[in-house]
Amino acid sequence: MKREPIAPDELELCVIRDFGGRWMLLTAGENAPGRFNTMTVSWGALGVIWNKPLALVVVRPSRYTFEFMERADSFTLCAFPGEYRDALTLCGTKSGRTFDKVRAAGLTPIPSTAVAAPGFDEAELILECRKMYSDDLRPDRFLLPEIEANYNGHDYHRMYFGDILAVHGISQYRTNAIH
Ligand SMILES: Cc1cc2nc3c(=O)[nH]c(=O)nc-3n(C[C@H](O)[C@H](O)[C@H](O)COP(=O)(O)O)c2cc1C
Repeated sequence: MKREPIAPDELELCVIRDFGGRWMLLTAGENAPGRFNTMTVSWGALGVIWNKPLALVVVRPSRYTFEFMERADSFTLCAFPGEYRDALTLCGTKSGRTFDKVRAAGLTPIPSTAVAAPGFDEAELILECRKMYSDDLRPDRFLLPEIEANYNGHDYHRMYFGDILAVHGISQYRTNAIH
């Protein structure tokens, strides 16, 4: 996939559609076999905090990826063309603990430019993020009763704030708006 560097403030993306609806792969670890893991995510946010561009992801402790997120100081978020929907379903239903899902999904890990966590050559968008904060979602702070229904196993997410250090994407992700 031919991607080009995009400044974070030029990134054109609808988070609710492109993250929540089209899903992304969250990857942490190092670019060597068995030293990273990836999983599908559809909950998260992009924004700004501490004057830095922010990618926020939430990961349940039961995920194998959680172990990599805890050990590593970086992660990537990758978005894919529509034909990779089955690959994303696979990465969101199988655990890397027992299964080489990257290979099964037909994905090719590639080095990132600014962080240790790899991206994937098939991605149309790659966000390279440095971890800058993490904390656990606390049920005693839930303000809507329906939220608890997401946690039958009391497997409350840990959230990670990533400082977006680099973005590479196909040209459709670069804004052409004139402000
Ligand atoms: C569409 C979709 C979105 C998902 N979003 C998240 C998420 O935001 N956070 C999370 O912890 N798990 C999420 N999951 C579940 C993980 O991707 C899934 O449990 C995966 O198999 C974990 O793999 P691992 O054990 O190799 O880390 C999602 C799954 C799917 C199919």
